[in-house]
Amino acid sequence: MEKAGGILKVTRYSNSSLVIKENYNAHKQLVGVTAMLKAAKFDPSDRNWIMAAYDPTGKVLAYGKVGSCIACHVLVRHQDLVFAPPPTQLLPITTWKAFFSKQEMNPAYVALIHKHPEAVVQ
Ligand code: HEC
Repeated sequence: MEKAGGILKVTRYSNSSLVIKENYNAHKQLVGVTAMLKAAKFDPSDRNWIMAAYDPTGKVLAYGKVGSCIACHVLVRHQDLVFAPPPTQLLPITTWKAFFSKQEMNPAYVALIHKHPEAVVQ
């Protein structure tokens, strides 16, 4: 990322790149971990990312070519499917609702969308 001049300018991650996201609720409790590992030839049409999701105990909830993960991450195809963290890039409310119809959006995230409308990914 440093070499490219920032996360928004990375167009290809190298093989074996590993990105891990810890997901916390409003009470700062870990509710899950999601990860992406770049593996040569794994899934060329989706940029060779192995997608994985774990619960807080480490139990595997999803692994491999996970369509639901990829369907959203392709919004940033030009960044090789890796989003920049908020508030640099934000999901449109409509996209959030299409994926998580039963889950309420974090009010802090909605506030970010109103404060940084230019950061919403199209
Ligand atoms: C509805 C859209 C959406 C879906 C579905 C989704 N993600 Fe993401 N993901 C994001 C956004 C937006 C970010 C950046 C914001 C953040 O970090 O919360 C992100 C961040 C990540 C990151 C940190 C790297 C990055 O791109 O910033 C990983 C790893 C990740 N997601 C993995 C997964 C996995 C694995 C799944 C499926 C189990 C998944 N995601 C499903 C939208 C989504």
